[in-house]
Amino acid sequence: MERSTPGTMAAWSWLLLLCFTAGVLQARAQPDNNGFISVDCGLPGKTGFVDNKTTIFIAADDGFTDGGEFHNISAEFITPTLGRSYHTLRSFPDGTRNCYTLRSLVPGLKYLIRAFFMYGNYDGLNKLPMFDLYIGVNFWTTVNITAPDNPVIVEAIVVVPDDFVQVCMMKTGAGTPFISGLNLRPLKNMLYPQANATQGLVLLGRFNFGPTDYTDIIRYPDDPHDRIWFVWSDSTRWSEISTTKKVQNTDNDMYEVPTAVMQTAITPRNASMNIEFSWDAVPLPNDPNPGYIGILYFSELQLLPSNVTRQFYINLNGKLWLQKVYTPIYLYSDATYNQNPYLRYPSYNISINATDNSTLPPLINAVEVFSVISTATIGTDSQDVSAIAEIKAKYQVKKNWMGDPCVPKTLAWDKVTCSYAISNPPRIISINLASSGLNGEISSSFGNLKAVQNLDLSNNNLTGPIPDALAQLPSLTILDLTGNQLSGSIPPGLLKRIQDGSLDLRYGNNPNLCTNGNSCQPAKKKSKLAIYIVVPIVLVVVIILVATLICCLLRRKKKASTNNSVKPQNETVSNMPSNGGYGHSSSPRLENRRFTYDELKKITNNFHRVLGRGGFGYVYDGFLEDGTQVAVKLRSESSNQGAKEFLAEDGEYMALVYEYMSEGTMQEHIAGKNNNGRYLTWRERLRIALESAQGLEYLHKGCNPPLIHRDVKAANILLNSRLEAKIADFGLSKAFNHNNDTHISTNTLVGTPGYVDPEYQATMQPTTKSDVYSFGVVLLELVTGKTPILRDPEPISIIQWARQRLARGNIESVVDTQMHGDHDVNGVWKVADIALKCTSNASAQRPTMTDVVAQLQECMELEDRRGSINNTSNDFYTGNSNDPNSSYNIYTTDQSTNVSQSSSAFEMEHNFGRVSTMSAGPAAR
Ligand SMILES: *[C@@H]1O[C@H](CO)[C@@H](O)[C@H](O)[C@H]1NC(C)=O
Ligand SMILES: *[C@@H]1O[C@H](CO)[C@@H](O)[C@H](O)[C@H]1NC(C)=O
Ligand SMILES: *[C@@H]1O[C@H](CO)[C@@H](O)[C@H](O)[C@H]1NC(C)=O
Ligand SMILES: *[C@@H]1O[C@H](CO)[C@@H](O)[C@H](O)[C@H]1NC(C)=O
Ligand SMILES: *[C@@H]1O[C@H](CO)[C@@H](O)[C@H](O)[C@H]1NC(C)=O
Ligand SMILES: *[C@@H]1O[C@H](CO)[C@@H](O)[C@H](O)[C@H]1NC(C)=O
Ligand SMILES: *[C@@H]1O[C@H](CO)[C@@H](O)[C@H](O)[C@H]1NC(C)=O
Repeated sequence: MERSTPGTMAAWSWLLLLCFTAGVLQARAQPDNNGFISVDCGLPGKTGFVDNKTTIFIAADDGFTDGGEFHNISAEFITPTLGRSYHTLRSFPDGTRNCYTLRSLVPGLKYLIRAFFMYGNYDGLNKLPMFDLYIGVNFWTTVNITAPDNPVIVEAIVVVPDDFVQVCMMKTGAGTPFISGLNLRPLKNMLYPQANATQGLVLLGRFNFGPTDYTDIIRYPDDPHDRIWFVWSDSTRWSEISTTKKVQNTDNDMYEVPTAVMQTAITPRNASMNIEFSWDAVPLPNDPNPGYIGILYFSELQLLPSNVTRQFYINLNGKLWLQKVYTPIYLYSDATYNQNPYLRYPSYNISINATDNSTLPPLINAVEVFSVISTATIGTDSQDVSAIAEIKAKYQVKKNWMGDPCVPKTLAWDKVTCSYAISNPPRIISINLASSGLNGEISSSFGNLKAVQNLDLSNNNLTGPIPDALAQLPSLTILDLTGNQLSGSIPPGLLKRIQDGSLDLRYGNNPNLCTNGNSCQPAKKKSKLAIYIVVPIVLVVVIILVATLICCLLRRKKKASTNNSVKPQNETVSNMPSNGGYGHSSSPRLENRRFTYDELKKITNNFHRVLGRGGFGYVYDGFLEDGTQVAVKLRSESSNQGAKEFLAEDGEYMALVYEYMSEGTMQEHIAGKNNNGRYLTWRERLRIALESAQGLEYLHKGCNPPLIHRDVKAANILLNSRLEAKIADFGLSKAFNHNNDTHISTNTLVGTPGYVDPEYQATMQPTTKSDVYSFGVVLLELVTGKTPILRDPEPISIIQWARQRLARGNIESVVDTQMHGDHDVNGVWKVADIALKCTSNASAQRPTMTDVVAQLQECMELEDRRGSINNTSNDFYTGNSNDPNSSYNIYTTDQSTNVSQSSSAFEMEHNFGRVSTMSAGPAAR
């Protein structure tokens, strides 16, 4: 009898927990459009990479943690099959607790969290470390490194209470903690119901039965949740059965095992034998004999004639596990599982035997085994955590500020005092940062520490004003600002608190502070009114016409050095923010015309009617002499946003005048908030798609140098009274660098959540393909009428949402019902197909805008023909279409991608394969 040993099982023991503390948002640390976060720990720099096999973006670990050291594993352990993520790691010789923070999560949502560890003798000491892992403040597992070349993977499924989660490594005196990789994958809350707010699941093993090649690992994209399914094979006892047909998930399937896993199964090689396998309990530090949850997956893969049956019993340790005869369902995925962990057997033997009546032997397709952990320990109040994390980041506080500020008490942050109530989360009640070398202004985040009573910032080098927000702290009784360089006066809110005796404010030794006993100069005001006003005219774009204009203006940029008079235009062209609703006219009247301030006053009737407010200031309604309605955007003096980009000169008022796009944005139309409540028809949608695609194509191809828009979204597609679409808002657009015309480099991630190209996000290098990606999202919005991030009921990206449905071949399940079925199925399929190609994770797989325009033109022709003959042929892109161009098949093609080679999981897979032959993990017998 083969048995796994506790030692080898340890590699498989996964644990889990909950979490905490945030920091300053880092663009790179954002989830991708699947909501995935993947970190290659110890990878220096800011640039990640795309995993060839899974097409998942792996980010460098900058911005996820602020402690530790970068290391490479020893060269002798680098093999061709070892995943790239294992090549580097981050180790944490200093401090008891060190954490990675994963941000931009959805509070209350369920997540799969996975961590990878491969020691690889990175420190040359050949000493295998052991340390504890926490999710937030809850214990997850002990990481016991048992061999330098043996990757350890741990995984947990937990509900995350906040919009961030921390994964913390805790020293236990048995070596220096380190980590090689970290994954986070969102799960719908209905999945894995055994995981809830107070209980998490820790994976012991997850296996696909059937394949005999241990490298046949299944994960994303075959498994949309990117679970890693290893092969469990025993060819001496088991034979494989399989199907190429799709195995469906039932509605409300609680496990959503992917078809690729369910398509294979095992039966006993000798039909009279049972299927038997087992696993041993793996002792935990706090529980020598943990209980387990087992989930067994079944599907009948053969179409059985009526006189043939397959029925069996499922037994655990000799007793019926399921209290009835079980018959797997043909091509449907089904699961048997226990809701609560099994009581504490030292080992678990599963035996599946056929009933007397069964004419076929039993089968099984897959299995998962979990132990449970408590996630009931509550961390510090999340608002306090966010505030203190921002303070930490702003002043670069070192100390031991890692993990949760208050929990556990033994690791509470230095200089921070907390209150611990029985039923509420701990709160931060006092902070003493006296003589801590703080520079800069007083962070407004102090104003978010709502329970703070005592705040000591004395004897630092703090400058600027005292924020009035501090007066909003209801419990603040002592505020010590002595010995800084603060300026301005004491804000009225604080004065009031001093007067009513509720606050002791100490502010001595601030030479620039205006107090009763200390006169000072009021801050100089900028001279108020500009003397003259330059009003470059401008453009937000029209499809072709305006794009042409832009190109023209850009060309003029070169002349600008010799001709000052056009300089402002250059600036405005490449920097056109807009909150939507107003666009530039194709009207030649507006091209390149200048207005004086007086003219603008006239046009807008003395700035009478405000249309809206954008990042730069107010937008006013106006009429030209000839009656053309225009929008006049006047940059407000107080506006900071974009000022740098907007203005070349100082001290001038700047304004933009453009055609009033009376029908507002495409976004409003999709939401039914415009068009007198009438929704767009399919034909209108197609035309909007085509016209905006042409506009983008022109930016990419017609302009020299080409332009990347960088913020393509439904809110930036404006419609005039004839519903003609124009792409607006060049606030973020950038011209290509001539020397390097495939991409541009910038340090700031721009764009709008839901639209941002994951590759751009990983590399920080926008390309024209980033616009293509965003445009794909716009296309999906047109088809589905949904928002880029929708609730289903959990937040999910429209891409993932549509992909999942289209993969089932069901176009009608994604089409906007507001079109009332008045659309051609073939055309909709084609547009959906284009959208999915545009939103491929890897930019190389995305079409160019030229391709997109050509395809949309075909769709338009299709629609024209439909209009003329009104004859819909539905015999082609049907739900089960085998047409290789249909979205459905594109998706399944992706699914067949062999995931095994370079994914970070592979090596682990690979290594697991080796270990497995030594009978690690649940053992077959
Ligand atoms: C860690 O692994 C080693 C080697 O397999 C084993 O001897 C030891 O008992 C393990 N320790 C724990 C706490 O699991
Ligand atoms: C989570 O599940 C466990 C086990 O079923 C149960 O005892 C606990 O009350 C649940 N917690 C919540 C918050 O539902
Ligand atoms: C089922 O019926 C078919 C033909 O009717 C026969 O050939 C086959 O042997 C039967 N199988 C069993 C298990 O009775
Ligand atoms: C199969 O399992 C059932 C339920 O445990 C048991 O009653 C029966 O004897 C077993 N049959 C065989 C052939 O093992
Ligand atoms: C086996 O078949 C007999 C006769 O049809 C039936 O009475 C009995 O309930 C069946 N047993 C099972 C376990 O299905
Ligand atoms: C204090 O801040 C000012 C302005 O930021 C800076 O010039 C000065 O060097 C700082 N002094 C110390 C001691 O940090
Ligand atoms: C992954 O892709 C990169 C770039 O195309 C290539 O250099 C590398 O060899 C690929 N790796 C594998 C394992 O296919």
